[in-house]
Amino acid sequence: MQKEDNLKDIISHAKEYGFVFPSSEIYDGLSATYDYGQLGAELKNNIKSYWWKSMVQMHENILGIDSAIFMHPTTWKASGHVDAFNDPLIDNKDSKKRYRADVLIEEHIEKIRSKIDKDVKKGIKRFGDTFDKEQFLATNPNVLRNQAKINDIEQRMRETLGKENLEGVYNLIMDLDISCPISGTKNWTEVRQFNLMFSTELGSVSGDASKIYLRPETAQGIFVNYLNVQKTGRMKIPFGIAQIGKAFRNEIVARQFIFRMREFEQMEMQFFVRPGEEMKWYDYWKEQRIKWHKKLGLGEQNYRFHDHIKLAHYANAAADIEFNFPMGFKELEGIHSRTDFDLKQHEAHSGKKLQYFDPEINENYVPYVVETSIGLDRMFLAVLSSSFKNEDLGDGKTRAVLSIPPALAPYKVAVMPLTKKDGLPEKAREIMNTLKLNHNCAFDEKDSPGKRYRRQDAIGTPYCVMVDHQTMEDETVTIRDRDTMEQDRVKISELANIIDGKVSMTNLLT
Ligand code: GAP
Repeated sequence: MQKEDNLKDIISHAKEYGFVFPSSEIYDGLSATYDYGQLGAELKNNIKSYWWKSMVQMHENILGIDSAIFMHPTTWKASGHVDAFNDPLIDNKDSKKRYRADVLIEEHIEKIRSKIDKDVKKGIKRFGDTFDKEQFLATNPNVLRNQAKINDIEQRMRETLGKENLEGVYNLIMDLDISCPISGTKNWTEVRQFNLMFSTELGSVSGDASKIYLRPETAQGIFVNYLNVQKTGRMKIPFGIAQIGKAFRNEIVARQFIFRMREFEQMEMQFFVRPGEEMKWYDYWKEQRIKWHKKLGLGEQNYRFHDHIKLAHYANAAADIEFNFPMGFKELEGIHSRTDFDLKQHEAHSGKKLQYFDPEINENYVPYVVETSIGLDRMFLAVLSSSFKNEDLGDGKTRAVLSIPPALAPYKVAVMPLTKKDGLPEKAREIMNTLKLNHNCAFDEKDSPGKRYRRQDAIGTPYCVMVDHQTMEDETVTIRDRDTMEQDRVKISELANIIDGKVSMTNLLT
């Protein structure tokens, strides 16, 4: 299946089963805005819980907060977002489509990189086990030529984008012969900067004095509270502050389902460290975060690191954890060494000291910060897209299944009476009433057992429990495993343990 078709199938599956709906659909929707339905909200909450537990609950030196979306407008002047939170945009005059100039160039680089990957694959096919990838990459003339092209483009990106030389960015697009994917022409406008913050007015007075912004990142709510938390939580450096919350960006190109939206959710953690120790912690958090992802079992081959060429205005080092989405490898999470930029800026703009007294070295200093920042919606898409399968069961039969990691699945178990009579529904409810104290359960009594199993497979329920006539005699039920489709007869008294063994979040945290 083509990757784009795969994304289309995922979008329609997500809608059909109540995971994600287009926002305000009865008015034909609002571009790049989505609503999470009944199962989407559950999956989202479980992802949040996995993140919160592993970052806050599992680390004595990380505390969680929940700061306001609206902040004093000077926050955004201090953070640099008013002046520098821009994307370089370019329009194609024929298709009237607007693009991010840096993305057009990065996509061009990706095309060249995929040629290298193709050559490597050919080499593997030809030489099998004797193929030496390192040597091939270092000596093959095609690869070397393509790698030189990439190096040259990246160098020019650093010289232009990195220095806000917009004419240089335009020239680079023209030199690379990049055309509009819609019109196919190179009839481009000049490159302009576009600020991504949404603004609104506070109270009833309009004008600049009352202009406030919808936060474009949750991080600033952490920075302005760093001393409050440090003092009230009696924290010693190194320590972290975490939070989950909405962020808003007026994205130029907002598409690809929930990957890039104008309203989205972030899970961010700022780790405050002694100056000079930031690179040690930057490496530490890169390692910790990739472990967190891989623990989910979505496939180790689906992750890679990408070091930033164009650093954000606050960072001295930054890397993305990229995931193999249906659209290819794209950013899922960022790990940034933000230096003391934000705290120093807030000191300068607020006139308040934001220093920490370090008793171990007897010194006052403004801490350095290492940040981990993951988009909740992108994580949702990563889970959904890698779990979605149309399985061939032989004999012309297929099933759509979401093999969501059990700890994240919206329902952990569906309880089903075989028929609607002979006291089976009552018995099934009795079992469910016990299980639901610990797990989100579904009750499903309509249609044939086969149809019910398929329905639960399609929404990713790890277990189905069938209550039948034998249950009434010996207090046993059948339990069916989503992934193997195998059924076992077990005692009702063993159910809670069996289910817990598979779906507990503890499995991910240890
Ligand atoms: N505080 C740092 C920061 O905000 P970022 O790389 O701009 O860094 C962090 O954003 C994460 O937020 C990204 O890795 C991505 O997962 C998510 N994200 C950013 N823009 C998004 C958007 N428009 N829609 C959905 N998720 C987005």
